[in-house]
Amino acid sequence: MSEQKPHASGGVEPGDTTKRVGMEIIRERGGDPEAIREKLIDAIAAEFSTYYYYTNLRMHLAGNEDYKEITEDARLEDRAHFELVAPRVYELDGKIPVDIGEFMYRASCPHAELPEDPTAENILEVLLEAERCAIRTWSAVVDMTRDCDPRTFDMAQRILQEEIDHEAWFVELLSMERDGEVNPAGHFVRGEPGDAPLSTNNRFNESA
Ligand SMILES: [Fe+2]
Ligand SMILES: [Fe+2]
Repeated sequence: MSEQKPHASGGVEPGDTTKRVGMEIIRERGGDPEAIREKLIDAIAAEFSTYYYYTNLRMHLAGNEDYKEITEDARLEDRAHFELVAPRVYELDGKIPVDIGEFMYRASCPHAELPEDPTAENILEVLLEAERCAIRTWSAVVDMTRDCDPRTFDMAQRILQEEIDHEAWFVELLSMERDGEVNPAGHFVRGEPGDAPLSTNNRFNESA
Protein backbone atom coordinates (compact mmCIF):
# COMPACT_ATOMS: atom_id res chain seq x y z
CA MET A 1 0.00 0.00 0.00
CA SER A 2 1.31 3.44 -0.89
CA GLU A 3 2.64 5.57 1.92
CA GLN A 4 1.31 8.64 0.19
CA LYS A 5 -2.21 9.55 1.30
CA PRO A 6 -2.48 13.17 0.18
CA HIS A 7 -6.03 13.66 1.43
CA ALA A 8 -5.66 12.01 4.84
CA SER A 9 -5.40 15.35 6.62
CA GLY A 10 -5.96 19.03 5.98
CA GLY A 11 -6.89 22.24 7.72
CA VAL A 12 -9.39 20.60 10.08
CA GLU A 13 -7.89 18.75 13.04
CA PRO A 14 -8.75 15.05 13.37
CA GLY A 15 -11.89 14.61 15.45
CA ASP A 16 -12.81 18.33 15.42
CA THR A 17 -16.60 18.55 15.13
CA THR A 18 -16.69 22.34 15.26
CA LYS A 19 -15.50 22.58 11.67
CA ARG A 20 -16.49 20.85 8.47
CA VAL A 21 -14.15 19.96 5.65
CA GLY A 22 -17.21 20.21 3.41
CA MET A 23 -17.33 23.94 4.22
CA GLU A 24 -13.61 24.66 4.39
CA ILE A 25 -13.12 23.24 0.92
CA ILE A 26 -15.67 25.77 -0.41
CA ARG A 27 -13.69 28.58 1.23
CA GLU A 28 -10.42 27.27 -0.22
CA ARG A 29 -12.00 27.50 -3.64
CA GLY A 30 -13.00 31.12 -3.12
CA GLY A 31 -16.61 30.57 -2.06
CA ASP A 32 -18.43 31.79 1.04
CA PRO A 33 -20.23 28.83 2.62
CA GLU A 34 -22.09 30.98 5.16
CA ALA A 35 -23.41 33.29 2.42
CA ILE A 36 -24.45 30.29 0.32
CA ARG A 37 -26.22 28.77 3.33
CA GLU A 38 -28.16 31.95 4.14
CA LYS A 39 -29.13 32.35 0.47
CA LEU A 40 -30.40 28.76 0.54
CA ILE A 41 -32.55 29.42 3.61
CA ASP A 42 -34.18 32.40 1.86
CA ALA A 43 -34.65 30.33 -1.30
CA ILE A 44 -36.27 27.34 0.40
CA ALA A 45 -38.48 29.66 2.45
CA ALA A 46 -39.84 30.83 -0.90
CA GLU A 47 -40.31 27.22 -2.02
CA PHE A 48 -42.20 26.38 1.16
CA SER A 49 -44.31 29.54 0.84
CA THR A 50 -45.12 28.71 -2.76
CA TYR A 51 -46.16 25.19 -1.79
CA TYR A 52 -48.62 26.70 0.69
CA TYR A 53 -49.98 29.46 -1.53
CA TYR A 54 -50.30 27.26 -4.60
CA THR A 55 -52.64 25.06 -2.58
CA ASN A 56 -55.11 27.93 -2.48
CA LEU A 57 -54.51 28.97 -6.08
CA ARG A 58 -55.14 25.41 -7.23
CA MET A 59 -58.40 25.23 -5.25
CA HIS A 60 -59.65 28.34 -7.03
CA LEU A 61 -59.01 26.92 -10.48
CA ALA A 62 -62.03 24.66 -10.06
CA GLY A 63 -63.60 23.99 -13.43
CA ASN A 64 -60.28 24.34 -15.22
CA GLU A 65 -59.10 20.83 -14.49
CA ASP A 66 -56.07 21.04 -16.79
CA TYR A 67 -54.92 24.20 -15.01
CA LYS A 68 -55.43 22.51 -11.67
CA GLU A 69 -53.36 19.53 -12.73
CA ILE A 70 -50.43 21.66 -13.87
CA THR A 71 -50.62 23.79 -10.73
CA GLU A 72 -50.54 20.62 -8.65
CA ASP A 73 -47.35 19.47 -10.40
CA ALA A 74 -45.71 22.83 -9.77
CA ARG A 75 -46.96 22.87 -6.17
CA LEU A 76 -45.62 19.42 -5.28
CA GLU A 77 -42.32 20.09 -7.03
CA ASP A 78 -41.82 23.22 -4.95
CA ARG A 79 -42.23 21.08 -1.86
CA ALA A 80 -39.64 18.71 -3.35
CA HIS A 81 -37.30 21.68 -3.80
CA PHE A 82 -37.68 22.56 -0.13
CA GLU A 83 -37.06 18.94 0.84
CA LEU A 84 -34.02 18.61 -1.41
CA VAL A 85 -32.19 21.64 -0.07
CA ALA A 86 -33.18 21.70 3.62
CA PRO A 87 -30.56 19.07 4.56
CA ARG A 88 -27.91 21.13 2.75
CA VAL A 89 -28.55 24.02 5.17
CA TYR A 90 -27.57 21.72 8.04
CA GLU A 91 -24.52 20.38 6.21
CA LEU A 92 -23.41 23.99 5.93
CA ASP A 93 -23.74 24.32 9.70
CA GLY A 94 -26.99 26.25 9.63
CA LYS A 95 -30.59 25.68 10.59
CA ILE A 96 -34.00 26.74 9.42
CA PRO A 97 -35.70 29.25 11.75
CA VAL A 98 -37.55 27.92 14.79
CA ASP A 99 -40.41 30.30 14.05
CA ILE A 100 -42.25 29.72 10.78
CA GLY A 101 -43.20 33.41 10.72
CA GLU A 102 -39.53 34.32 10.59
CA PHE A 103 -38.96 31.68 7.93
CA MET A 104 -41.73 33.08 5.74
CA TYR A 105 -40.45 36.63 6.25
CA ARG A 106 -37.10 35.53 4.82
CA ALA A 107 -38.62 34.11 1.63
CA SER A 108 -36.75 35.48 -1.37
CA CYS A 109 -39.93 35.76 -3.46
CA PRO A 110 -43.28 37.46 -2.81
CA HIS A 111 -46.01 35.19 -1.45
CA ALA A 112 -48.17 33.90 -4.30
CA GLU A 113 -51.41 35.17 -2.82
CA LEU A 114 -54.83 34.58 -4.29
CA PRO A 115 -55.68 37.68 -6.35
CA GLU A 116 -58.58 39.85 -5.22
CA ASP A 117 -60.45 38.94 -8.39
CA PRO A 118 -59.60 35.24 -8.59
CA THR A 119 -60.25 34.64 -12.28
CA ALA A 120 -58.25 31.91 -14.01
CA GLU A 121 -56.37 34.61 -15.90
CA ASN A 122 -55.37 36.46 -12.75
CA ILE A 123 -54.38 33.26 -10.96
CA LEU A 124 -52.26 32.12 -13.90
CA GLU A 125 -50.44 35.45 -13.85
CA VAL A 126 -49.60 35.02 -10.16
CA LEU A 127 -48.34 31.51 -10.88
CA LEU A 128 -46.23 32.71 -13.79
CA GLU A 129 -44.56 35.46 -11.82
CA ALA A 130 -43.84 33.11 -8.92
CA GLU A 131 -42.03 30.76 -11.28
CA ARG A 132 -40.04 33.63 -12.71
CA CYS A 133 -38.89 34.66 -9.25
CA ALA A 134 -37.83 31.04 -8.64
CA ILE A 135 -35.81 31.02 -11.87
CA ARG A 136 -34.02 34.21 -10.82
CA THR A 137 -33.36 32.81 -7.35
CA TRP A 138 -31.91 29.47 -8.42
CA SER A 139 -29.91 31.10 -11.20
CA ALA A 140 -28.29 33.28 -8.54
CA VAL A 141 -27.49 30.17 -6.47
CA VAL A 142 -26.02 28.46 -9.54
CA ASP A 143 -23.81 31.50 -10.10
CA MET A 144 -22.67 31.58 -6.45
CA THR A 145 -21.69 27.92 -6.41
CA ARG A 146 -20.52 27.02 -9.92
CA ASP A 147 -16.79 27.12 -9.16
CA CYS A 148 -16.69 26.36 -5.44
CA ASP A 149 -19.55 24.14 -4.26
CA PRO A 150 -20.45 21.28 -6.62
CA ARG A 151 -23.00 19.78 -4.22
CA THR A 152 -25.13 22.90 -3.91
CA PHE A 153 -24.56 23.68 -7.57
CA ASP A 154 -25.94 20.28 -8.56
CA MET A 155 -29.06 20.76 -6.46
CA ALA A 156 -29.63 24.31 -7.70
CA GLN A 157 -29.22 23.51 -11.35
CA ARG A 158 -31.63 20.57 -11.09
CA ILE A 159 -34.22 22.78 -9.39
CA LEU A 160 -33.63 25.50 -11.97
CA GLN A 161 -34.42 23.07 -14.77
CA GLU A 162 -37.77 22.26 -13.20
CA GLU A 163 -38.54 25.95 -12.58
CA ILE A 164 -37.95 26.64 -16.27
CA ASP A 165 -40.42 23.83 -17.06
CA HIS A 166 -42.91 25.52 -14.73
CA GLU A 167 -42.54 28.91 -16.38
CA ALA A 168 -43.13 27.35 -19.80
CA TRP A 169 -46.32 25.66 -18.56
CA PHE A 170 -47.79 28.91 -17.27
CA VAL A 171 -46.70 30.91 -20.33
CA GLU A 172 -48.64 28.40 -22.38
CA LEU A 173 -51.75 28.46 -20.20
CA LEU A 174 -51.86 32.23 -19.67
CA SER A 175 -51.27 32.91 -23.37
CA MET A 176 -54.34 30.88 -24.26
CA GLU A 177 -56.53 31.97 -21.35
CA ARG A 178 -55.84 35.70 -21.66
CA ASP A 179 -54.87 36.23 -25.30
CA GLY A 180 -56.24 33.22 -27.18
CA GLU A 181 -52.70 32.58 -28.37
CA VAL A 182 -51.00 29.25 -28.86
CA ASN A 183 -47.64 29.46 -27.12
CA PRO A 184 -46.58 25.87 -26.51
CA ALA A 185 -44.46 24.76 -23.59
CA GLY A 186 -43.34 21.75 -25.56
CA HIS A 187 -44.18 19.49 -22.63
CA PHE A 188 -47.11 18.97 -20.26
CA VAL A 189 -47.92 17.25 -16.97
CA ARG A 190 -45.55 14.90 -15.18
CA GLY A 191 -46.13 11.15 -15.25
CA GLU A 192 -47.12 11.20 -11.60
CA PRO A 193 -48.40 14.36 -9.90
CA GLY A 194 -45.42 16.40 -8.79
CA ASP A 195 -42.96 13.84 -10.09
CA ALA A 196 -39.97 16.17 -9.58
CA PRO A 197 -37.88 14.12 -12.02
CA LEU A 198 -34.68 16.00 -11.24
CA SER A 199 -35.12 17.18 -7.68
CA THR A 200 -36.60 14.36 -5.62
CA ASN A 201 -34.20 13.82 -2.73
CA ASN A 202 -33.26 10.78 -0.78
CA ARG A 203 -35.93 10.08 1.76
CA PHE A 204 -34.98 10.87 5.34
CA ASN A 205 -35.71 7.34 6.39
CA GLU A 206 -36.32 5.10 3.45
CA SER A 207 -37.33 1.59 4.38
CA ALA A 208 -37.75 0.18 0.88
FE1 LIG B 1 -39.53 25.45 -6.84
FE1 LIG C 1 -41.81 26.24 -9.55
